[in-house]
Amino acid sequence: MAETVNVGILGKGTVGSAFRKLLEERADMVEEVSGRRPAVSGVLSSKEGDFDEILAGSDIVVELIGGIDPALDYVMRALREGKHVVTANKQLLAQHGEELVVAAREGGAQLRFEAAVAGAIPVIRVVQESLGAVPIEKVFGIVNGTTNYILTEMARSGLSYQEALKQAQDLGYAEADPTDDVGGADAAAKMAILARLAFGAPVRLEEVPYEGIEQIKPDDLAYAKELGLSLKLLGVAERVGDGQISVRVFPCFLYPGHPLSPIEGPFNAVMVESPAITEITMSGPGAGGPETASAVLGDVVSVIAGGSPLFEENEKLDVAEDVEMAFYLHLEVEDRPGVLAKVAEVLGDNEVSVRSVVQRGRGDDATLIMVMHPVSERRFSAALERIGRLEFLRSPPRSIRVIEEEFG
Ligand SMILES: NC(=O)c1ccc[n+]([C@@H]2O[C@H](COP(=O)([O-])OP(=O)(O)OC[C@H]3O[C@@H](n4cnc5c(N)ncnc54)[C@H](OP(=O)(O)O)[C@@H]3O)[C@@H](O)[C@H]2O)c1
Repeated sequence: MAETVNVGILGKGTVGSAFRKLLEERADMVEEVSGRRPAVSGVLSSKEGDFDEILAGSDIVVELIGGIDPALDYVMRALREGKHVVTANKQLLAQHGEELVVAAREGGAQLRFEAAVAGAIPVIRVVQESLGAVPIEKVFGIVNGTTNYILTEMARSGLSYQEALKQAQDLGYAEADPTDDVGGADAAAKMAILARLAFGAPVRLEEVPYEGIEQIKPDDLAYAKELGLSLKLLGVAERVGDGQISVRVFPCFLYPGHPLSPIEGPFNAVMVESPAITEITMSGPGAGGPETASAVLGDVVSVIAGGSPLFEENEKLDVAEDVEMAFYLHLEVEDRPGVLAKVAEVLGDNEVSVRSVVQRGRGDDATLIMVMHPVSERRFSAALERIGRLEFLRSPPRSIRVIEEEFG
């Protein structure tokens, strides 16, 4: 008889119930590959089960409750007692990663969290294990399926943001309260986790500035379409000079050849760049009960099969306060002489140089669309702040970052 590995499941919601079903269906297969047979030792929900009993009877604790309280307490207690933990909880990792890693080390336990970032795509394993010894320069991610679905539909059907959001909610791609997804907070938590693994340096969630997609207008997507660009909510984690990294989330125009440009609908994708490997791009479903459960099961199998992921924090890296980016700027202006000269003067004062400018419409419809050369984000936002105060503007200025091939 194969040795039994007891798996305690915390949470029986979308992912918890899918995971339980999958674990039971795949127990024979896991036994075949690992020589040990997983069995469910207990299930906890808000209405049933006792955590202490489940903890005492489990070798592995799978946390699928979500949020911080009580998940943090349960996970910390499990790790300190030397029980391996598998979790899908990005908030827990992004906000309490360091203390969890310390607890895992002290308890001699494994902590695995493949499902916390990019659902079914094995991006954590690739960054942490396969590329564990490779110096990673940059990680680009479309790590929020809700926003990618909304932007895809806005581009495809010319829907407004509100219409596309409603459609996403009707189809189950967006929650009733979509704030964390559309505002960029969800993507920021995932990028903090990825950056920490990619650079071996602690990145706190507060150090990840983020912007969402709520302000994107059909006009912006029409412009993108005209130039063959796509618009994505992008997470970027990169080395930016001596001992510095930058981790950010923002909507961004991408040139057509960019590996993340074709990723559409509720899909996720992550691209890793390093001189050693050039680049690797992984894409797939970012959420869903069965999809997420499959990533959780993969972690459980890794724990059962033995072998420990790397948790090296090997570098002293600071988070950069400013980086360079190219920008698109959309200005609705009064159609009168001197307007363009005044905008150019403000940009010039802030050392922002213009790559292209077009005027669309006349009279009350006049719009200036400008694309800047890469510039310090700080200088660009100083210019934007001044432009926002110019009296001939008919609405607040809108800017979106641009990643174009020739800008590298
Ligand atoms: N859903 C996805 O597609 C997806 C994708 C990637 C990652 N995740 C992550 O997976 C985790 C679980 O998400 P989910 O969608 O499965 O959530 P969910 O459907 O809301 O399920 C949460 C479960 O936790 C239980 N629970 C809540 N508070 C509890 C408490 N105080 N004590 C014990 N149990 C408690 C709930 O109990 P009741 O059953 O009694 O309500 C429920 O069974 C989250 O960290 C989420 O971010 C989800």
